[in-house]
Amino acid sequence: MLKKIDHLGIAVRSLDEAVPYYEKALGLKCEHREEVPSQKVRTAFFTIGEVHLELLEPTDPESPIARFLEKNPNGGVHHIAFGTDDISAQLGKASQAGVKLIHEKPFDGAAGKLVAFLHPRSTFGVLTEFCMPQPGSGSHANAQPTT
Ligand code: CO
Repeated sequence: MLKKIDHLGIAVRSLDEAVPYYEKALGLKCEHREEVPSQKVRTAFFTIGEVHLELLEPTDPESPIARFLEKNPNGGVHHIAFGTDDISAQLGKASQAGVKLIHEKPFDGAAGKLVAFLHPRSTFGVLTEFCMPQPGSGSHANAQPTT
């Protein structure tokens, strides 16, 4: 089942430009940076309560985030991620309900999590991610940054 809103994904042109806004204007602390080759992005994480903010900067013109920024040049909210304790069951349930899946099978996302996305055409325009800690991995705070 879904347990919580795990994070909001926010597309930015440049982490180096956006991170100071979150740190200086909002007073949050960047806890973790990581490159995610599967999604061709660099990420920076902040935490508010139990919810994370995942800033996403494209590393390649073919990145889904680069395409999002073509339509939203200032950046913007890109996706909402629900934390689940059984990502495969959650994908199956959505699929059975007629939702189009972008990923039939979960894959390695940021922060040591398995992730998969639902198609926004089936989710009333909200790109929706399911995420679950990898079996055997620690929490996001313990994940080893790759950059
Ligand atoms: Co995400």
